[in-house]
Amino acid sequence: MIIAPSLLAANYGQFAKETLRAAKSGAEWLHLDIMDGHFVPNISFGPGVVKSLRPLTRMFFDVHLMCSKPQVLLEPFAQAGAQQITVHTELGDQVTPLLWKIKSLGCKVGLALNPPTPISAVRPYLEQIDLLLIMTVNPGFGGQEFIHETLPKMQQAHAWRRERKLAYRIGVDGGINFKTAAECAQAGADMFVSGTTLFGQRNLKAAVLKMRKTVTAAQRIH
Ligand code: DX5
Ligand code: ZN
Repeated sequence: MIIAPSLLAANYGQFAKETLRAAKSGAEWLHLDIMDGHFVPNISFGPGVVKSLRPLTRMFFDVHLMCSKPQVLLEPFAQAGAQQITVHTELGDQVTPLLWKIKSLGCKVGLALNPPTPISAVRPYLEQIDLLLIMTVNPGFGGQEFIHETLPKMQQAHAWRRERKLAYRIGVDGGINFKTAAECAQAGADMFVSGTTLFGQRNLKAAVLKMRKTVTAAQRIH
């Protein structure tokens, strides 16, 4: 499994310190939420911030582009140190060229889908992606409530992966706390983005360990 703290929930005035805290927490990935104020009604941070954090840690930088025109951002984020770039299914015709461009930059390829988007929308892309990121909140803000109606999407993604012998990770993103992480694990998720629950704890390392143990226990039941 992969635990990915989302920097969006960290102290904006101390990104370097928070990145170092995440690096020492045992989490595998650092989830970097990039928002353009158009695809989502919020603006977060850009490639310059990612570039400044890159030398601080060897953590895998998982960049989530919640942007309407990501094609102009792929190269800057790859050069800034992104190792995976995720774009949204809702971009329609842009998706296939975007996935090829991300791959050509040497990054892993992620595809995200919002709660209202049916899981069938990602079927054409499953062979091309390294991560399927199932949004469990409507994107744009941390600290929102988990949307339980997204659970069947994880089950469907898990079934397709098994049937078609594919290797994409099934990620979940938004409202992931210890309880909802367990529910998602039972539904087939194996990568967990969590902002508020993890960065909200004084002891991030203990929180990551608790989420890992909770997911492991849930996967045994699955
Ligand atoms: C929401 C972002 C999520 C969010 C997760 O648009 O994609 O990554 O930051 O934060 P929490 O865990 O606080 O919902
Ligand atoms: Zn995200």
